[in-house]
Amino acid sequence: MKRTLVIVGASYAGVQLAASARELGFDGDIVLLGDEPDAPYQRPPLSKGFLTGSFAEERLPLRSQAFFEEEHIQWRPSTRATRIDRERKAVELRDGTRIAYDHLALATGARVRKLDCPGASHDAVHYLRDLRDARRLAGFARTARRAVVIGGGYIGLEAAASLRQRGLDVTVVETEPRLLARVASPWMSAFMQRAHTAHGVSFVFGRKVVKLHDTYDVVSVELDDGTRLLCDFVVVGIGVIPNTELAAECGLKVAGGIVVDAYARTSDPAIVAAGDCVSFVPHWAPAGSPACRIESVQNANDMARTAAACVVGRAEPYRALPWFWSDQYDLKLQMAGVNAGFTDFAVRGSVEDNRFSLFYFRGEALIAVDSINRPQDHMLARKLLANGAPISPAQAGDPQFDLKTLASDEQRVAQGAA
Ligand code: NAI
Repeated sequence: MKRTLVIVGASYAGVQLAASARELGFDGDIVLLGDEPDAPYQRPPLSKGFLTGSFAEERLPLRSQAFFEEEHIQWRPSTRATRIDRERKAVELRDGTRIAYDHLALATGARVRKLDCPGASHDAVHYLRDLRDARRLAGFARTARRAVVIGGGYIGLEAAASLRQRGLDVTVVETEPRLLARVASPWMSAFMQRAHTAHGVSFVFGRKVVKLHDTYDVVSVELDDGTRLLCDFVVVGIGVIPNTELAAECGLKVAGGIVVDAYARTSDPAIVAAGDCVSFVPHWAPAGSPACRIESVQNANDMARTAAACVVGRAEPYRALPWFWSDQYDLKLQMAGVNAGFTDFAVRGSVEDNRFSLFYFRGEALIAVDSINRPQDHMLARKLLANGAPISPAQAGDPQFDLKTLASDEQRVAQGAA
């Protein structure tokens, strides 16, 4: 009998899950539910080229319409799942329709954390998560002169860079004492701050926004020390909240995210989950580490592959190496691994020329590498990290030390052992 896979969420994880299920031979019905009206699209360009005007909207779709037709994936736009009936194995939609499933996949992602102060619902306050947000913001940015960006994380910094490139005055307000505190080392935070300052961005650290005043066409952003920053509009990038309500309401285990095991299985064997909405203990974390969420395109895609393998009965544990990237001005920041708890690091390359990598070690072990404009280092680092290659800080920092040979030697050893 034909089986049905229903996927809730049609962004990176959902689309990849559908594609991988087909690649792995799933020949039943695949129903992909997305609550947005637009065909699944790439999100990274929204805060970069789409905002500067160099990346046209036509280039955004993740997959062509032909792909969904050829793979017999029933993508349903503007369709919101409102309830999961686990007992009868059905998903209920907003209009009351029910779709029966044999396998259910949750790829519900995350939504923006909203600014919570008087004036926060003002028209000139923008978020940047979906295409609708991005269209609205790009429209505003065309005629404005001054922006205040709240949050010095990925969204805040990419938006700041794009707006500066459009010639706007930009001030970033960050509650922490440094940029990208969630993901970057203090050293990299300082480098990124210097780069933005050199491009004319102003910063306010350690302050909170307490109120937004709207006087005529000017917005005044009031901080907790009484400072007021005047601007035409505000961009808020203060993190995301995982969409776990559907899962929690039907009794799946949720703890900071939808809890899954190493195979992307939730607490119900008929339901898998992948992407930003998921909480799990990563294979690369030290023993005893708590579960966490990884917010990245890489994690969404790779975990979706793990979940799809589970659906077709070929479960394999999730072993992918985490990696991230961000483009700001002419800087390509690429991160491989996670540097949390590093005890030492080495610099390779030239910081003055904006072409270098930071190799992070915990004890003797290499745990992460951040590269600026050194894509080859990044690709080699991914191999070194995946294979647990032995490398010391002195070797990493020595420009004569041959990373390529080490990476391929280690790959041969790993393949031989496999
Ligand atoms: P984020 O978590 O990266 O950064 C949020 C920043 O806002 C933090 O630095 C935090 O300290 C600060 N903050 C929190 N509350 C604040 C407040 N009230 N006032 C001022 N600052 C405050 O989240 P972000 O930048 O919003 O990004 C959202 C999501 O999009 C993340 O999952 C991120 O990983 C993802 N993303 C990834 C990109 C990439 O990989 N290149 C690019 C853009 C977004």
